[in-house]
Amino acid sequence: MSSKLEVNKNDMHSIVKSFPQLLRHSSLDVRLREQLAEMRDDRPTGICFIGMGGSSIAGGYVATSLADTSRQPIAVVRDESLPEYIGQGYVSFVVSYSGNTQETLDAYEILAERGCHTVTMASGGLLSKKKADCFIRLPPGFPPRGALPAMFGALLQATQTILGVPTTDLNHMAEEINLAADSWGGNLSKPAALAEWMRGRIPVFMGSRHLYPVAYRAKCQMNENAKTEAFASPFPEATHNELEGFTEKRAGSFAIVLLKSRAEGATNAKRLDIVAEILSSAGHDCTIVTASAPTQMGEMLELTYHLDLTSVELADINGVDPLSVPKISALKKRLK
Ligand code: F6R
Repeated sequence: MSSKLEVNKNDMHSIVKSFPQLLRHSSLDVRLREQLAEMRDDRPTGICFIGMGGSSIAGGYVATSLADTSRQPIAVVRDESLPEYIGQGYVSFVVSYSGNTQETLDAYEILAERGCHTVTMASGGLLSKKKADCFIRLPPGFPPRGALPAMFGALLQATQTILGVPTTDLNHMAEEINLAADSWGGNLSKPAALAEWMRGRIPVFMGSRHLYPVAYRAKCQMNENAKTEAFASPFPEATHNELEGFTEKRAGSFAIVLLKSRAEGATNAKRLDIVAEILSSAGHDCTIVTASAPTQMGEMLELTYHLDLTSVELADINGVDPLSVPKISALKKRLK
């Protein structure tokens, strides 16, 4: 990965704004592609992404992006233990930005015992020193969640190489996101306006299929950057349970964001509209957000970029530092 990045790593606004730039810089070099191609020749029976928090998001995005076309199962594990089926024949990506996350390192040890092909990805730390079939070094100095575009681009191309399918042109994707961002303020309000709409309320994000991982990322960004409770729910599953929980009693407490794809099936599109009506008539503040990017992956990345920016705007409104995560750091320190 190229290291010529123009970003102030001490400023979360600058980091989030560098999203398209980071994505562009995450293309894999020839040497890495060759190492990964060797694993393709062994015909993997499955792919697994292992990581926690900000280091788990990219794997979730890649798994969703390739789910419709991959014949091999693709698993995402956010835990220190692994399902029994992940073993020989699998290629496992072990991702920890710091390289020092306990759960991820423990999962790595299980993989090593099971004899899986392993690709490690880190900016340094203990993980970067572990034996692996391939090691992808991330650009240093970012908060892990800020490095999502770098992790995503590299993991996507690595997985595509292993599966023997054409790799995505990340320059093109970055261009798609930049173009889409130019249209914000039209059907999709600008990040600052969305954050203002969320002021004083608990954001809840809902999305179906490829937009559920985006909803989950948005929830995490609101938690860590804006220091607010926030929740994410899979759609349409939430319409079979959670919908009933939004009673008039707590009207005004939530800012509910329904993520809608331009390629939404007719039934789900109708379902989203009806849910918005039901929630609004129970007194809840609800908005439907639609990306303008033309592809499924473009929609995921555009909405992520938008909601990441929204989270730092909300941090400003809440008067908090979006960069520091004192509670998470304290927990890690006490567990050491
Ligand atoms: C911090 C962040 C966290 C970390 C998580 C795991 O910016 O996003 O969610 O990603 O605590 O740490 P790493 O990514 O270093 O394995």
